Amino acid sequence: MTRRALVTGITGQDGSYLAEQLIEKGYEVHGLIRRSSTFATERIDHLYLDSHVESAKLFLHYGDLADGNGLSRLMQDVDPHEVYNLGAQSHVAVSFQNPIYTADVVALGTLRMLEAIRMTNPKIRFYQASSSEMYGKVVETPQSETTPFHPRSPYAVGKVYSFWQAVNYREAYDMYACSGILFNHESPRRGETFVTRKITRAATRIKLGLQRKLYLGNLDAERDWGFAGDYTEAMWLILQQDEPDDYVIATGERHSVREFAHKTFELLDLDWEKHVEFDPRYMRPAEVELLEGDASKARKELGWTPKVRFDELVEMMVESDLELAKQERTLVDAGLKSIEWNGAGR
Ligand code: NAP
Ligand code: GDD
Repeated sequence: MTRRALVTGITGQDGSYLAEQLIEKGYEVHGLIRRSSTFATERIDHLYLDSHVESAKLFLHYGDLADGNGLSRLMQDVDPHEVYNLGAQSHVAVSFQNPIYTADVVALGTLRMLEAIRMTNPKIRFYQASSSEMYGKVVETPQSETTPFHPRSPYAVGKVYSFWQAVNYREAYDMYACSGILFNHESPRRGETFVTRKITRAATRIKLGLQRKLYLGNLDAERDWGFAGDYTEAMWLILQQDEPDDYVIATGERHSVREFAHKTFELLDLDWEKHVEFDPRYMRPAEVELLEGDASKARKELGWTPKVRFDELVEMMVESDLELAKQERTLVDAGLKSIEWNGAGR
């Protein structure tokens, strides 16, 4: 029997890796997408456009986590075996600017999904994209499943709410609802306003004379950065266990933003200090200074380990963005594109 998965956030970084892996495993994948005036399916177009109608494995449905009726209807139409709730306003800094919208999507959106499942078929397995941001002002290092939460942004508070809703639906209704508490994970598909991709994009553009400066905020923040493709494998494993549970997914290694910038520019034979400048606009009202995860439970119970380590991750992102910058340089040289000189405000 073909297994069906419903993925919210399928157009995002994680959604695209997860969709690829589920299709590879033989799933029929259904994705929730938002209507917009331009296409936002760039990360999954290769899955969608390559499939013939009769052999299609990916189906996209319009909807929004803010629209509970639509989610319930979709749940009934798709009748999935597994649901992966990855949709979110996932930018921490933006959540300070749009706290109420962020809470609606990140917190209530999860509750709408859980209710849609409970009303449709409580046997559906549910994965919640929980976040290391929930540890916020950390009370211990490394952070594990037993570390108390202290969220530091509207986004993180919303994720804590969703985490506990998933636990409550598991306990109250015996539903298979789980959280992966994922530490930061990156890739060449990472959104360009997250710090790692912002750095690799800017450094490669600077290398090719397409940009002069990179403006950053807090260089001292430390993160436990892994590769998104490894982390989406963990999501699937979490839903294949006999009993539902919550798991930390992390590499156990932490590096500062400064180190990430240094490593990136070094790979391009550039001196990062000549190109990086401080911009207070990128400071946050409350900062998460350090995150480092202890994934020993996932290692022991899921048999999961990260394959890609820090140096390899930076190399992968630089290599991919250098290719993008070369394509851009070609367009600029042909007079088909103008240069954005300083990169401020991105
Ligand atoms: P992402 O690239 O920002 O993708 C977010 C996805 O959510 C996009 O597909 C976006 O659609 C969709 N979305 C946004 N608002 C929505 C709404 N109102 N209704 C339905 N869909 C909506 O995020 P990601 O890095 O893949 O992360 C996936 C999930 O894991 C998120 O929940 C994030 O908070 C969580 N998480 C991420 C990390 C990390 O380091 N990447 C770590 C821990 C947890 P559009 O394409 O239309 O914008
Ligand atoms: N985005 C950004 N831009 N961050 C900057 C900048 C900048 O110019 N300069 C310094 N930083 C610092 C931030 O202050 C933060 O401490 C760190 O770099 C990482 O920022 P992001 O890459 O935006 O990620 P995040 O850690 O805030 O959130 C990401 O990871 C969470 C998991 O811990 C997101 O993917 C969240 O959705 C996810 O839950």
